[in-house]
Amino acid sequence: MCERKTAAGCAEKVKENENKVFAIAIDGPAGAGKSTVAKELASLFGLIHVDTGAMFRAIGLKALRLGMDPADESAVRPMLDDTAVTLELVDEAQHVFLDGEDVNAFIRTEEVSQAASNVSTLPSVREKLLELQRALAKKQSLVMDGRDICTVVLPNARFKFYITASAEVRAKRRYDEYLEKGRLGEMSYEDVLREIEERDYRDMNREYAPLRPAEDAVIVDTSEMSVKQVLTRVLLSMIDV
Ligand code: DC
Repeated sequence: MCERKTAAGCAEKVKENENKVFAIAIDGPAGAGKSTVAKELASLFGLIHVDTGAMFRAIGLKALRLGMDPADESAVRPMLDDTAVTLELVDEAQHVFLDGEDVNAFIRTEEVSQAASNVSTLPSVREKLLELQRALAKKQSLVMDGRDICTVVLPNARFKFYITASAEVRAKRRYDEYLEKGRLGEMSYEDVLREIEERDYRDMNREYAPLRPAEDAVIVDTSEMSVKQVLTRVLLSMIDV
């Protein structure tokens, strides 16, 4: 019920809400399905989707290209002064640009995944991307996914989710995806599992903004669920909030 009881007052209230910028924040480990959920929600509600992992991947890629150790703050920090990471829509999909170059085709390799996880432990990198991510969320309503969106980037997000699954299930999904896309190379399932576990450990145990569920996030374990079941759970919880 509207607080202001006149018809004009109600209309005004609705208008206020319509214009309010809000965020759906999603965190979780690699391969849990957060990006799938984020994309579906964005398309359902007509919002943009910001995949913050892609931003860390772009910086990891640059460090690799320059032959730097991606975990070395003293090398990476000065590089950031002349590094531009931007997101643009290309054919309705988010593409990440590094210093003006569309690097989408280069950021999904295992090497870049590990480099992204390494640069993401550095405070200078987190600080730079935090600013960019908050600026995006201030400008428009969106769905944003990553590791620290609910806990650090957008603690006041209207909806918060932590999407997870067992390491074995996530490794199997990654393995199948690489196989389908011809990106598996020499890697076995055990290799993929080891890399997922290494990345989880680093992402969850770093000093700055470690991956963990926010206290007020809805936790969804997708290990035994189909995409449809996950979406149903997420949407039902949104009605309850
Ligand atoms: O979601 P992803 O796998 O594309 O992310 C790549 C790495 O980037 C991940 O291992 C940790 C880091 N990351 C982060 O620290 N914070 C975020 N909000 C998103 C990603």
